[in-house]
Amino acid sequence: MPLDHSALTQEIQQLVRLLNQHNHHYHVLDNPQIDDGEYDRLYARLKALAQTYPDLIPADSPTHRVGGQPLTGFQQIAHQVPMLSLGNIFTQDELVAFTQRIQERLLGQIPEYELELKLDGLAVSLIYRHGTLAQAVTRGDGQVGEDISHSVRTIRNLPLVLMQPEMDGNNDLPELLEVRGEVMMPRSGFARLNRQIVADGGKPFANARNAAAGSLRQLDPAVAASRPLAFYVYSVNQCEPAHPQPSQQATMHWLQQLGFELAGWRRTVADAAAIQQAYDELLASRDNLPLDIDGMVIKVNSLRQQQQLGFSGREPRWATAYKFPAQQATTVVEQIAFQVGRTGTLTPLARLQPVNVGGVMVSNVTLHNMNEVQRLDVRVGDTVSILRSGDVIPKLVRVWHELRPAATEPVQLPADCPACQSPVVMPEGEALARCSGGLVCPAQRKEAVSHFVSRRAMNIDGLGEKWVDTLLQSGLIDTVADLYYLHEKREQLLGMARLGEKSVSNLLAAIDQSRDTTLARFIFALGIRGVGEGTARQLASHFGGLDQLMQASVTELQKVPEVGSITAQWIADFLAEPHNRTVIARLLAAGIHWPLEQDSLIGNQQPLANQSFVLTGTLSAMTRDQATLMLQALGARVSGSVSAKTQAVIAGADAGSKLDKAEKLGIAVWTEEEFLRRMQDLGLNVSLFL
Ligand code: IVH
Repeated sequence: MPLDHSALTQEIQQLVRLLNQHNHHYHVLDNPQIDDGEYDRLYARLKALAQTYPDLIPADSPTHRVGGQPLTGFQQIAHQVPMLSLGNIFTQDELVAFTQRIQERLLGQIPEYELELKLDGLAVSLIYRHGTLAQAVTRGDGQVGEDISHSVRTIRNLPLVLMQPEMDGNNDLPELLEVRGEVMMPRSGFARLNRQIVADGGKPFANARNAAAGSLRQLDPAVAASRPLAFYVYSVNQCEPAHPQPSQQATMHWLQQLGFELAGWRRTVADAAAIQQAYDELLASRDNLPLDIDGMVIKVNSLRQQQQLGFSGREPRWATAYKFPAQQATTVVEQIAFQVGRTGTLTPLARLQPVNVGGVMVSNVTLHNMNEVQRLDVRVGDTVSILRSGDVIPKLVRVWHELRPAATEPVQLPADCPACQSPVVMPEGEALARCSGGLVCPAQRKEAVSHFVSRRAMNIDGLGEKWVDTLLQSGLIDTVADLYYLHEKREQLLGMARLGEKSVSNLLAAIDQSRDTTLARFIFALGIRGVGEGTARQLASHFGGLDQLMQASVTELQKVPEVGSITAQWIADFLAEPHNRTVIARLLAAGIHWPLEQDSLIGNQQPLANQSFVLTGTLSAMTRDQATLMLQALGARVSGSVSAKTQAVIAGADAGSKLDKAEKLGIAVWTEEEFLRRMQDLGLNVSLFL
């Protein structure tokens, strides 16, 4: 049956176009648009296609040549010995195959391997004539590079004149020596440079490699000199007269004697198992190294064996790069889902064909909001790049619009909530879409229950997310009020939870205990949009009682400090909603209470209204947050600095300049004890806050 080549041709053309474009960005513009790992993957795919279907590969395919065009603006220099590249391996199987191939070619000789860091910098060739640095040339396209002698001469760890090696026999410096290595910007210097650039209002470099490249290509050597660059040597490529060495290890030792710096880590090992062990160790310690590396280079140690093995195309058979897993990977978007949060926010989420990103499987990535979806123009079927750095949440960094399949649709905000089918609303001027279902919506209900029980709200110890899920899914609770009726369902709970008497008893006891709370906690626990802990405190203190709050008009609500017109409307809407009113009534009926004196004492009086206080030093009987809440409950403001308007400074241990200033301005200074006594005198039930 004849093969349908049209789809293949299309894929090949797309890959060729993309790779050429990225080659240009990388080699010529010094501004790579994608991660090396990702480039390798795309290249590997094209290479595989080229092997199977050589006839379909166009003449401009990057598989036909080494790199991009050299940068113009610098003198172009042809390399006397081409600067070749290394093959890549990624897995233990590929490692075993690599060592087996070598042994077969060496007809049974067992080689030793020299392991080095695969430095992620810029390859540079240095020519020394009679011991003096004569020329430095970039890799360019491997055949022709650019003369960067002027900026390389500013690199401090690089010998401008070679040192005399202390060796037996041939001690003369060679007439001609060409060495190659990598120009790097060590991580510490890179961080410092970027901080400086930002402080000066500039745009920081994306990574140390770009920073090194940018610095080397400075036409002004003074700028290059100010950059923290370093050179690490890894090979000798010409030497006249010859100065034969037995091995890579010995060569490196000789180079060190000539005055070159070697990148710290290296190992000499016997077989694939030892290589793998060294690789695992290196990968684990990668983040602690002073330099950026993207893998480990494996070289046959004996130079005689290297010669026997020779080259295959552009790559040596005697060496390869054992690359680290990419921190960035490419995959396909299978679906765009919408997740519903506590206050009904709909967050778009890309569900991905699972992909391994730097050793972790990633199958979802958040898209934040509809603006972001539109900015990225991401659609189902798109090829996307996912980045993970450190423990950071995976991020979608690129949509490959070039690879988009034929029929795709832009993502639409759903008209109805995916969890409860209530209408979705997106008020004008807001970036976030919301489900209008309130507590009718199961997704919002789950988030609402988790918030209600959380430590700073009703503080029901031991009721974690799993419990919340189980209780809601089994129908044992429907709203937060049902939590307080769970003891009636003790048997069902025991049967369902596969948990012992003890944990069920503990849970019920924790729920019981939470009945005794404060008005502010209760208001906060309701999860009213825009009402955080501080606003809840203000509402409690302003209205003094739940009844008053529930009857308050929008205008009255707006009189509360921190409550603007929008939040006031949200509060009024929430409290007017019949379902919410039922839940509140059931909660009160279940025995949730707060001290009455708190209701009546604070009330509308706010004895410290319009007064400003400053906290300083280390408090011992309470935290600063607690002291702040007490002051706010009485209507006071807490400020960060002392001024003539400050009513009093509350000073804990080791108070410093703020205390001095208060004394200078003659402002009252209270100790913690005095503060607590005054709070009590003003009628505050202090124990509620501690
Ligand atoms: S040896 C025939 N050793 O990796 C090429 N290269 O992908 C022999 N690199 O262009 C190169 N660290 O810039 C060698 N320890 C190391 C290296 C290293 C980084 C770079 C080098 C080369 C590229 C090949």
